[in-house]
Amino acid sequence: MEKVVLAFSGGLDTTVCVKLLEEKYDLEVITACVDVGQGEEEIKKAEEMADKIGSLKHYTIDAREEFANDYISKGIKANAEYEGYPLSTALARPLIAQKIIEIAEEENATAIAHGCTGKGNDQFRFEAVILSMSDLKIIAPIRELNLTRSEEIQYAKDHGLPLSSDKTYSIDENIWGRSIEGGNLEDPANEPSEEIYEWTASYKDSKDEPEKVIIEFEEGVPIAINGEMMGLIELINKANEIAGFNGVGRVDMIENRIIGLKSREIYEVPGAKLLIAAHKALEELVLTTDEIRFKELMSTIYADLVYRAMWQEPLREDLDQAIDNMQQRVSGKVSLKLFKGSIAPLTRESPFSLHDIDDISFEDKQTDQREVEGMIKHHALQAAKYQKLNK
Ligand code: ARG
Repeated sequence: MEKVVLAFSGGLDTTVCVKLLEEKYDLEVITACVDVGQGEEEIKKAEEMADKIGSLKHYTIDAREEFANDYISKGIKANAEYEGYPLSTALARPLIAQKIIEIAEEENATAIAHGCTGKGNDQFRFEAVILSMSDLKIIAPIRELNLTRSEEIQYAKDHGLPLSSDKTYSIDENIWGRSIEGGNLEDPANEPSEEIYEWTASYKDSKDEPEKVIIEFEEGVPIAINGEMMGLIELINKANEIAGFNGVGRVDMIENRIIGLKSREIYEVPGAKLLIAAHKALEELVLTTDEIRFKELMSTIYADLVYRAMWQEPLREDLDQAIDNMQQRVSGKVSLKLFKGSIAPLTRESPFSLHDIDDISFEDKQTDQREVEGMIKHHALQAAKYQKLNK
């Protein structure tokens, strides 16, 4: 019998997929769960579910270091946010796909399967990588059989599949963020209930005093919080904790999906919001006017590429190189104030600062202010001529 490797979380979609792949596709199923920081419980849930459902073999792949160092770090350097969403799910998908390919090759499987529906973005993200990096067949049972969520639940019941209890919302979690969809959130006319949030305090429950936090960067990557040096994973966890306590990082948005659908999405991204805000504050100090303007264009395009499943697009690699080159000077320290969901920079310092206190000061006598007169005349030259002609 031919073998398929299924990207497996132990949730409803992928659990149903195991049975479908055996029953309707006549395949032996190897399940694989890639750890990108969804939490010990989720990893265990996948392992237990794989065991209960009797997959041929189950893999747990720890990809957290790679996710932080090769994906999230790029997201930070690029200030990558799509419509205000720091791309937590979108950044993890290409890595998950890559890891599944590696297992499929090791296992001599002929195909890779995933549990995505035909409506979302993740089917694009998985398949773009599989198509680019392998010749494996792709199977998407939920999409191919056009199943709805309640049909999946019925199928699971009919086949006596064990199901985890939390079926109200569809949740995706990794180190960089948490996304919550479905249930009554599908209707933008409904207010989200407070219980959906796990990483961020409500306005009411967040601290009543502002909290100061200091982030230190080296070449665009954060290396220390409040003076304590740490690896990127630990640092992001810490940033999530500090910002989350202060109610920072709730995003409730109407998102434009790849296939054109508008959908109401809720994210908890406290650490991402804090680190990107700190990173931008430092860039303001060290990059030139033109670099900052161009960086904004690059950020938008970069986030679009990541969101739209274009991780494999050469432009993404080109942008990474250009951004890395710029980031060589993005080293230094930023302090920020967090208060009930807001973030405000307080101080910034860098050995590469282009800001000169002696030049800018009102007390400066070195600069001869008169030198600028000629510059102004030339600066306004064309506009002045045009307005005079118009008269
Ligand atoms: N809409 C987001 C994205 O496309 C997140 C999707 C995550 N999936 C989920 N089941 N919540 O990146």
